[in-house]
Amino acid sequence: MNGGIIAICPGSFDPVTYGHLDIITRASKMFSQVIVLVAGNISKNCSFTPEERVEMIKKCIPDLENVTVEHYDGLLADYCAERGATAIVKGLRAMSDFEYEFQMALTNKKLNPNVETLFLTTAAQNMYLSSSMVKQIALMGGDISSFVPEVIRQDIIDRIQK
Ligand code: PNS
Repeated sequence: MNGGIIAICPGSFDPVTYGHLDIITRASKMFSQVIVLVAGNISKNCSFTPEERVEMIKKCIPDLENVTVEHYDGLLADYCAERGATAIVKGLRAMSDFEYEFQMALTNKKLNPNVETLFLTTAAQNMYLSSSMVKQIALMGGDISSFVPEVIRQDIIDRIQK
């Protein structure tokens, strides 16, 4: 796409939830191009491979034409520079997210001064939703239908309950 701002929605997405999908959908309305980036988080042991996470996200957003999904192993700041992206968009849930997100935003700004981090307020119904909560519920045989789309529900149950 020519012109306009390229925004990155980065995360572990292990797995993607309705909370992430809400932020991605809203970002797609604000920017000409959005790249959902499955990135590494050294403090997390993921249940799905990066490729699986990319595929699950793609399955959930077939209709968002200006959104692509990719995986990158390096620094987010470097990826933004490589792709000419000038915005990082993240969802902010409760205050508990704030310190961690603020630290990352400031670090990314230091590493790549051309990039601004923007926070979207999470939708009220997703306030307490997290990927780790979804995995816990799936592990214990609970109903995850309020948290993740139907197209990936069985993939999650199969992996977590194996
Ligand atoms: O969904 P998460 O785990 O909270 O997302 C964190 C993520 C993946 C966005 C962050 O760990 C990240 O940007 N990883 C890429 C490597 C990097 O740039 N690390 C320094 C961040 S300041």
